[in-house]
Amino acid sequence: MTTSQPTPLRLGIAGLGTVGVGVVKIIRQKANVLAARTGRPVVITAVSARSKDKDRGVSLAGYAWEEDPVALAKRDDVDVFVELMGGEEGPAKDAIEAALALGKDVVTANKALLAHHGHALAQTAEAKGAVIRFEAAVAGGIPVIKALTEGLAGNDITRVMGVMNGTCNYILTRMQDAGLPYDEVFAEADALGYLEADPTLDVGGIDAGHKLSLLSSIAFGTKVDFDGVELEGIQRISIEDINQAAELGFKIKLLGVTQMTGRGLEQRMSPCLVPADSPLGQLQGGTNMVVIEGDAVEQVVLRGPGAGEGPTASAVMGDVCDIARGFRLPTFGVPADMLTTAKSAQSNSPAPYYLRLALEDRPGAMAKIATALGDNGISIDRMRQTRHDDAHAPVLIVTHKTQRAALDAAVVAMRETGVMAADPVALRIEAV
Ligand code: NDP
Ligand code: HSE
Repeated sequence: MTTSQPTPLRLGIAGLGTVGVGVVKIIRQKANVLAARTGRPVVITAVSARSKDKDRGVSLAGYAWEEDPVALAKRDDVDVFVELMGGEEGPAKDAIEAALALGKDVVTANKALLAHHGHALAQTAEAKGAVIRFEAAVAGGIPVIKALTEGLAGNDITRVMGVMNGTCNYILTRMQDAGLPYDEVFAEADALGYLEADPTLDVGGIDAGHKLSLLSSIAFGTKVDFDGVELEGIQRISIEDINQAAELGFKIKLLGVTQMTGRGLEQRMSPCLVPADSPLGQLQGGTNMVVIEGDAVEQVVLRGPGAGEGPTASAVMGDVCDIARGFRLPTFGVPADMLTTAKSAQSNSPAPYYLRLALEDRPGAMAKIATALGDNGISIDRMRQTRHDDAHAPVLIVTHKTQRAALDAAVVAMRETGVMAADPVALRIEAV
């Protein structure tokens, strides 16, 4: 009697940069353990990238080369298309669509693509009996999608929040630790290769917003709504803000919060002050943290590396292994046709705000600002004007709890006074 050999799972990998090379290394180094864990060999049959001749520091021997990722996705010897090129349009989207059209499963780390086209792609996948997995797209090496879709499946999720962009957290913590200005640390991050090809994706909060919109969909069973994320980046955070926050007992973090309220789905990604001694406040460098709250579990905190070759490849391999085992889930945890269209709501939960202003140093300037706040029902908790040599006085105000809408109205009124050099830096103080 002959024993039949398990059928190998054959991968085609498009993109051999940081993440792609990490995946190739794991598959080459851990073939035996992967086969033992999944019950079948996991092999690479073909790869694609822009430059065939580039030395990638890993052997590609034995893999067919395709110039065109779409051709790779369509190959008969590829069961799973692994998209690690990036980009919300173009070859990544074309190749994923080509794979799905043939009923092939897809693994991707591409949060930009899914934030914009996730629902349509999920519908295509389900119509073709294929799955799309994207653990690596959110919070790098942290298995947050697995946590939400599997371990916490018995919960009504009430809120998800966290730090989801390693580059911003690196910049903010480095400014704090080294006392360096934003521009200098930004240049350092660039030199270290931390920034996305378009750095605005990182520092503008867009990349983290993409991730938050994907988590919202899974947590609340809604269609991905990236346009509904209130976005603010870290570009205006100065070393003064970092220092002032520290004196008040806070750290500044690019914090994402998503929650379903009676008014609709609130999604915001913005720099906030969080208590320095809180788990989020203590997060250093490129580390990410996601806090999930559910009715049964109460609170779960996940912390880990948010980017980089090993951590991101680790997340990709978790998805690949699930497919190899035959474990299949709809893209966003429930069938695409069951995902609802959430009404997007501006967050209006009251919070204290930190305001940094540069005021003309002339009689009555401060009074005008106080009036603009008072007229909008905002009460000042603390206020300080520091010594200065130039024409504009640096003023710090901490308000009592107020709603964002009232603060926005107050900023409009402050602008009309003509005593500010620029709009204030306004940061929510989050009790986490
Ligand atoms: P890289 O820029 O390091 O690599 C991109 C790869 O895609 C390169 O190998 C490049 O080829 C290839 N590529 C780009 N365009 C094409 C094309 N038109 N045809 C064929 N190949 C192409 O990116 P990363 O590895 O950093 O990121 C990949 C994905 O993973 C992105 O979606 C990113 O957002 C996501 N991600 C990345 C993380 C990280 O830490 N780096 C963390 C989490 C997610 P060549 O090498 O020849 O130029
Ligand atoms: N640019 C992203 C970050 C990469 O810094 O977190 C990981 O998604």
